[in-house]
Amino acid sequence: MIDQYNRDINYIRISVTDRCNLGCVYCMPKEGAVFLPQSEILTYDEIIRLCRCFAKLGIKQVKITGGEPLVRNDIVSLVGKIKSLEGISRVTLTTNGALLMEHLSCLLSSGLDGVNISLDTLDPERYKQITRRDCFYQVRTAIKEAVKYSELRVKINCVPLADTSEEDIRDLVELARENLLSVRFIEMMPIGLGKNYSFQNEEELRSLITLAYGELTPIPSTGVGGPARYYSIPGFLGSIGFISAMSHKFCNECNRIRLTADGHLKTCLQYEKGWDLKSMLRQKTTDSTLERAIALGIYGKPGGHSFHLPQYPGFHEQDYMSQIGG
Ligand code: GTP
Ligand code: 5AD
Ligand code: SF4
Repeated sequence: MIDQYNRDINYIRISVTDRCNLGCVYCMPKEGAVFLPQSEILTYDEIIRLCRCFAKLGIKQVKITGGEPLVRNDIVSLVGKIKSLEGISRVTLTTNGALLMEHLSCLLSSGLDGVNISLDTLDPERYKQITRRDCFYQVRTAIKEAVKYSELRVKINCVPLADTSEEDIRDLVELARENLLSVRFIEMMPIGLGKNYSFQNEEELRSLITLAYGELTPIPSTGVGGPARYYSIPGFLGSIGFISAMSHKFCNECNRIRLTADGHLKTCLQYEKGWDLKSMLRQKTTDSTLERAIALGIYGKPGGHSFHLPQYPGFHEQDYMSQIGG
């Protein structure tokens, strides 16, 4: 459906858990976050019921996120059920990849269309420092396996920190040379612990990559929507992308809303949790009332973020990115 700023909202990011099996320094506090009690998390039946309402209102693409979505039991069945809903054409997953290998073939059988894997470095030691866990090789193996499936769109997410080396960046770019995947460089947003980290912006990365590989050629958008802009490099099977919410704000093209693990409709990354759909679900609200509430929420979606301002409105200081799902 169309929102108050004339944007077509056709994509939802569903966080299925706030738990994560990694502890990335810019996403999760060292001591771990306080996790939601199980009873506060939407059940799969509740998620499916909401997805039917979303689909009726024009949502066509579903992204499953966390925390780490693969730590939730039987995520494969959820993917299959969402994929089979009328009106839903694409279901994708964003994961840290640590548990991906063991779920990959079942995810494919249940109709998963794409997987985005977070990987900030190809240096195992640095990986351990950033994620506070020792599972680099599991992630690397899962990526190697994922690219074997031509029906699966594979994207690598890297958030380059200020101290990420040129070598790290080049190693990641190299992944796109021999593999049919996209390596995306993401500008850190000042959310949760991300506020404490300096990052490399698109401009800096682009000049580094151009110096090493020559001019980047823009790839026209596929029309699927999303914040990344893609570029090709001669001789590369894959592509390079940039998600630059800070230096190239993309809010006027935003096509998405979020469902939090505890059932709130969050209509913009910057703003607080929003509409409490879980309470409505659990008070035996009818589908048409739910749909009306969702439609109102979508219509009122804010125009965009103001992360560049020293004090921006609407954000819960205590929210970590792990609780939002990106
Ligand atoms: P697809 O292209 O559909 O695979 O999705 P994506 O690239 O948006 O998803 P992914 O989960 O891989 O997120 C990559 C980065 O984009 C993360 O840093 C997200 O926080 C960021 N991102 C995703 N959606 C939004 C959004 O609506 N607004 C902003 N500002 N950032 C977003
Ligand atoms: N800003 C931008 N991206 C972030 N991610 C985690 N925290 C931030 C942040 N503050 C990324 C992760 C993951 C994706 C879902 O979001 O690295 O790849
Ligand atoms: Fe959309 Fe809000 Fe992200 Fe801007 S900050 S792209 S409006 S979700």
